[in-house]
Amino acid sequence: MPKLMVEARDLYKSFGETQAVDGVSFSVPIGQVVGFLGPNGAGKTSTLRMFAGYLEPTKGQAIIDGVAVSDDPLLAREKIGYLPENCPLYDDMMVVDFLRFVAEVRMIPPSQQDARLRLVCDRCGILSVLGKDIGQLSKGYRQRVGLAQAIVGDPDLLLLDEPTSGLDPNQILEIRALIKELGKEKTIILSTHILPEVQASCDRVIIISDGKLVADDTPDALMTKGTASRVSMLFGPMDSATVDVHRIREILADIPETRSVSSRPGEGDGTLGFSVDVGGDGDARSALFQTVVQHGLPLLEMHREQVSLEETFRKLTQGD
Ligand SMILES: Nc1ncnc2c1ncn2[C@@H]1O[C@H](COP(=O)(O)OP(=O)(O)OP(=O)(O)O)[C@@H](O)[C@H]1O
Ligand SMILES: [Mg+2]
Repeated sequence: MPKLMVEARDLYKSFGETQAVDGVSFSVPIGQVVGFLGPNGAGKTSTLRMFAGYLEPTKGQAIIDGVAVSDDPLLAREKIGYLPENCPLYDDMMVVDFLRFVAEVRMIPPSQQDARLRLVCDRCGILSVLGKDIGQLSKGYRQRVGLAQAIVGDPDLLLLDEPTSGLDPNQILEIRALIKELGKEKTIILSTHILPEVQASCDRVIIISDGKLVADDTPDALMTKGTASRVSMLFGPMDSATVDVHRIREILADIPETRSVSSRPGEGDGTLGFSVDVGGDGDARSALFQTVVQHGLPLLEMHREQVSLEETFRKLTQGD
């Protein structure tokens, strides 16, 4: 079994009546890049804070590299680079002074600090703003400084809480590339709302909803699982007196594989489009085709659609 970098053992966190994290268990082997997804208020930040040693679990254990964070918060923190949500930074400090301060806290020997800071700042693209006060930086540069402080100590594990939130599309691409680069040598847990980010850079996706774990899989497997199969169909113009949209929906719904049928807005040329969500692992196209032929419907096109991760996410976190 591969060595684990992170383990959540039946983690709970409540704030008064609110059950923010409700019995979450998962483990992450060394080197994996994990996307940690969930809607607002799902418990992502609370979970990451328990790993980072900023929040005590109500029950259960957060374990970093074999050490329970609550047993030895300092040792666990040494192994972690943490980019908190809305990363709080000292606004009236110069970027370079702040990072030097972080290097001190991280106990990097003074003789190595310059080289380390240069490397980190180069990677994060902040060499040009080293002499500025943090308070003067744009949101994107602040976020880069936040990332820089997380990696100054060269930690084995990075916990990144929405690293691209509030950035413009160019900055998002840059930060994403940086994370991908970092993922080659580090274990990363990345909380995000941005699903393409997960598809682009993560080996694995963990989804939580309402404090509970609802999925744990590779991005590809999540997209093709269970409900995630759909057939798109297009019919030619029909005599609406004998067959209408409702009737076609009934016909398509009348095979065991069908879970739901929805019609798409017409294209103004008399054609009718439908999306049929099908269950099971098999291919429902043959059964759909036979039904269509039996009822003499003028089928023009039929193809299987890839269901997006976004849609899978919505299904898992909202029900139908
Ligand atoms: N310090 C706190 N005191 C009281 N309630 C809190 C505290 N921190 C979080 N909560 C509550 O716990 C629940 C989970 O919050 P959390 O911030 O972990 O969610 P999240 O998944 O990070 O959401 P978002 O996507 O909005 O960042 C929410 O209902 C939130 O209001
Ligand atoms: Mg959060």
